[in-house]
Amino acid sequence: MSHRPAGAAETAPSNGPPPTGPTPQAWEEIKRFLDFDDEDVERLRVAFERYSPYIDDIVERFYDHLIAMEATRSVLSRADVDRRLKDLQRGYLRSLGGGDYGEGYLRDRLRIGATHERIGLAPRWYLGAYWLYLREIVPRLLPCASAEEQATVLSMHKVLLLDMILVTEAYVGRTLALVGDQKARLEELVSERTRQLSKWERLAAVGSMAAKVAHEIRNPLSSISLNTELLNDELVGYRGVDTTEAVDLLRAIAGEIDRLSRIVEEYLQFARMPRLDLEQVNLKDLAEQVLKFLSAEFERYGVESEIDTLDHGPIVYLDRNQFRQVLLNLLRNSQEAMPEGGKVTIRLREEADGTIEVVVVDTGVGLEPAQTQQVFDPFFSTKDTGTGLGLAFVQQVVLEHGGEVSCTGQPGRGAAFRIVLPERLRVRSRDLPGGAAAGGGGPPKRSS
Ligand code: HEM
Repeated sequence: MSHRPAGAAETAPSNGPPPTGPTPQAWEEIKRFLDFDDEDVERLRVAFERYSPYIDDIVERFYDHLIAMEATRSVLSRADVDRRLKDLQRGYLRSLGGGDYGEGYLRDRLRIGATHERIGLAPRWYLGAYWLYLREIVPRLLPCASAEEQATVLSMHKVLLLDMILVTEAYVGRTLALVGDQKARLEELVSERTRQLSKWERLAAVGSMAAKVAHEIRNPLSSISLNTELLNDELVGYRGVDTTEAVDLLRAIAGEIDRLSRIVEEYLQFARMPRLDLEQVNLKDLAEQVLKFLSAEFERYGVESEIDTLDHGPIVYLDRNQFRQVLLNLLRNSQEAMPEGGKVTIRLREEADGTIEVVVVDTGVGLEPAQTQQVFDPFFSTKDTGTGLGLAFVQQVVLEHGGEVSCTGQPGRGAAFRIVLPERLRVRSRDLPGGAAAGGGGPPKRSS
């Protein structure tokens, strides 16, 4: 029979870890706590002499009860009981009076406990079965006591066993509830990570294909570009023929070639993410440089900008070039979201928990809530002309730095991109030249 006994749900059978339990030192301490001494050992030997003639009977009645009860019958088969369990049980009863309660005894008991856990027997039935021994053994140890006195001793044992069962299950139940909680959380995490992984695998495959195509396009594109220039020079040299239209067409072709080249470069830049080259970077200075670089574009589109930071701004170990590109991509994205003009703010903060926050907020067209998850996906774009790689690049660089990036926004109410960089990238004043431990700092190692 292979059904699980009632109440066994709490102890799912497993082939998992080896028996756990007290160490030999802890086992000695347990015995001291119970005052288990040589006199007990001697008394148990005498007790064994008294009940040993009845061991066969005791074992018979033990299994009669387990087979009569629904809860225990479901994990026993008559054949197995007769073939080997009765023998094992007799051996167990003999070992109770065997005189050796050292490490061998400890190991043996832990193994027996693990065996019953493995078959899915709840602690209540295992502990309850001790009652079956006491019921048989106590009257044989107290032959002179009246039936009522024997019954009283047994009642006392019963109530203590009932308590042991309840307390053990309270302990086990709590542990299992905690384990169940953790398991549920882990399962959720694993399925989330698996979803992410398969999405990234798909995107990586598409990405590497796109990079190959971009690579293949680059060379012919530059020769087309060169030939267009040559053709243009040729046309300029013509005398007496109206080449205006042809020149205009060539200019349009050159414009399209430029656009294609930029797209190809963006694909290749995304595909060949270089290794991080960390150095100390003042985020406020970097933000100022990027804003200066974009000032003409911002002016053209009526975009105001502001850096909101405290003091001199956070100093962080970063790959300067890659992070410059991150800010550039975020600011361009903001500008494109404000075709009628608006304001973009770069907020820089050193948080109390040591992390560094970089937030780029704009007053642009905003996003649908569902899009805030998608904006970082490669090739996702809300614009007709976008490659969908700008924000994917931002995410990749931030992840490479061990940070996180997220986006919030609502249609018509602007968007905010929030980067959180880990504490280990933060440069503290003691790491700066002249700081308390100047020279002790240096780019942190990646922790993952
Ligand atoms: C006082 C309580 C009990 C004691 C001392 C005891 C003792 C033992 C011992 C010594 C073994 C051999 C295991 C080994 O050497 O690893 C064993 C196996 C087994 N016991 Fe118990 N037992 C008890 C209660 C129960 C109960 C209540 C059941 C319920 C039906 C049960 C079912 C089994 C089964 C099915 C096996 C065989 C496991 C296997 O090897 O597949 N036992 N028991």
